[in-house]
Amino acid sequence: MSTRALVGNPAGKDANPAEDIPSPRWAERLRALRNIPPVMKYVWDAAPGVAVANLTSRVVAALIPLSMLAVGRMILAAIYALRADHTPLPHYFWGLVTLEFALAGIAAVLMRVIDFCDTTLAERFMKHISVRLMKHAANLDLMSYEDPVFYDKLERARVQSTDRVQMIKISGRLIQETVTTVSLAAGIFVYSPWLLIALVACVVPAFLGETHFAFLGYSLSFQQTPARRELDYLRLLGGTKEGAKELKLFGLAPFLVGRYSDVATELHDQTIGVARHRLYIGALLAIVGVAGYYGTYAFVIYHTVIGLISIATMIFLTGAIGGASSNIQAVFTTFSEIANQALFMTDLLEFFAVKPKIISKPGALPAPKKIQQGFEFKNVSFAYPGSSRMILKNVSFKLAPSERIAIVGENGQGKTTIVKLLTRLYDPTEGQILLDGKDLREYDLESLWQEIGVIFQDFMRYEMTASANIAVGRIEERNNPFRIRAAANKSLAEQAIRRLPKGFDQVLGSRFKGAVDLSGGEWQKIAIARAYLRDAQLLILDEPTAALDARSEHEVFQRFSELTEGKMSLLISHRFSTVKMSNRILVLKDGEIAEQGQHDQLLKVGGHYAEMFELQAANYR
Ligand SMILES: Nc1ncnc2c1ncn2[C@@H]1O[C@H](COP(=O)(O)OP(=O)(O)OP(=O)(O)O)[C@@H](O)[C@H]1O
Ligand SMILES: [Mg+2]
Repeated sequence: MSTRALVGNPAGKDANPAEDIPSPRWAERLRALRNIPPVMKYVWDAAPGVAVANLTSRVVAALIPLSMLAVGRMILAAIYALRADHTPLPHYFWGLVTLEFALAGIAAVLMRVIDFCDTTLAERFMKHISVRLMKHAANLDLMSYEDPVFYDKLERARVQSTDRVQMIKISGRLIQETVTTVSLAAGIFVYSPWLLIALVACVVPAFLGETHFAFLGYSLSFQQTPARRELDYLRLLGGTKEGAKELKLFGLAPFLVGRYSDVATELHDQTIGVARHRLYIGALLAIVGVAGYYGTYAFVIYHTVIGLISIATMIFLTGAIGGASSNIQAVFTTFSEIANQALFMTDLLEFFAVKPKIISKPGALPAPKKIQQGFEFKNVSFAYPGSSRMILKNVSFKLAPSERIAIVGENGQGKTTIVKLLTRLYDPTEGQILLDGKDLREYDLESLWQEIGVIFQDFMRYEMTASANIAVGRIEERNNPFRIRAAANKSLAEQAIRRLPKGFDQVLGSRFKGAVDLSGGEWQKIAIARAYLRDAQLLILDEPTAALDARSEHEVFQRFSELTEGKMSLLISHRFSTVKMSNRILVLKDGEIAEQGQHDQLLKVGGHYAEMFELQAANYR
């Protein structure tokens, strides 16, 4: 079997190009220019003072070439007059020479100032955008993160926040080049409008070519995003601690490297293909531009030879033509670069435009400080967005205050999905979830989450200190060692933490220097400590005990039972010894609640629960 067949085909070779690649149309290019004002607004928000300094420096710098040519022309004319018919030098002659010198000095200094402003602006912009990006990403629905299309968008937006910094510099350059060009063009125009028209005409084809290839480049990069994401993933797999064990023992390296190399080669070929095309066409169009420049140059020389213009004017004009020609070209190139950058900005702006659907409605209620009636699932059915498969079907149950319930069921029956609905990470497809008789959607999300503490089966292992790892349960308490220790003590994590070289201040994990990693069970105890620190009205543990040894698990749950006495809790576990301690057990089967009751009752019924219990018990006999 080929490696491609194993991992799918995100490189886009067989993908439908009409869907993935934007067609290179002019309208779209122009539309993309609309991205410039919002982006410039971000730049302005990030650093208004520096932006003004940058702009001023650039405009002044832009006028220097014409000024220098004009002063140079006056100097030459004076010298020529002195030599040809002994006209004395004007009294301000040496002043002109000094001015020429000063202009050159100012130009050199301004270049440095502009560089400095560009760097400052870029840094501020990057920080500003990254912060906005993080804030925005944190607000989006969980659903978004489970959608690959969204992921590609996020990825492109991330890259853009750093890569698009160029845009600021380029925009500044465009302004500078435009001012220079206009000033030099005015100088040429005074002498001959036709000269100017000829010059411009020769540059336009190069501009069109540039824009065309810029657009092709964007299309390509757009199309390559999924493949690049896969490359990143493969690279990551090959270089993480988690991956290393399996990679070695299963001998996966050749497979991963092979796949990486296949995808990378494909991307390389596509990119080089476009670059080669650009080389041929670009060279051809450049020749047209050069012909324009030298054609007008020859015209000026001819007019000087036949005596129509003076040497001083000729030098002024050839300087202006040279400057204008390279600047017009630069203006066009820069403009197409901007159009290109603006296209890339589409993704960033689109990402900012993604709005979360699960939000607090205006005037939402605060969650009850003391829950009176508890939670109720009323005929809840649920399918994940984008899928028609009903994971939960008509599920109804109540969770009263001071009740501890457990959910059991085989893998993939929808236990974790119930938790996601109860915590309003998703809204039900049908039916209602009530809290104290009111729909969950009536409550303010933040305040609802304040009242719930959840430890998911795939809880996070933060590569931070042990203390911070517990503090994430209620981050306001991060500087309260007393409460953090108490939580660790309750979850039995304290013993493991005390053994660490730096105790609670020990950085965990393996990413950072001096960090110490924990065993799976030790991590779980730390995660459970978060739930105790959270001290919320509803505590949910979604199977965070799978890696605990038998004694630890017994102790952890004994404590959990004691500590949640009189509180609302929801427990998901595959171990019946644990589940037994709940007031009520819900048995989930095929997305429905098949049975519910206490352990002994359910055993008596002799249904699905009894069957699963027997299976597990048989293993211990
Ligand atoms: N984000 C998602 N998008 C689409 N389908 C999903 C998503 N998450 C879970 N599912 C599907 O929903 C079903 C129920 O998943 P859920 O995680 O709730 O199961 P579970 O009962 O918690 O299983 P386990 O015991 O393995 O933890 C599964 O078949 C799964 O494939
Ligand atoms: Mg689960």
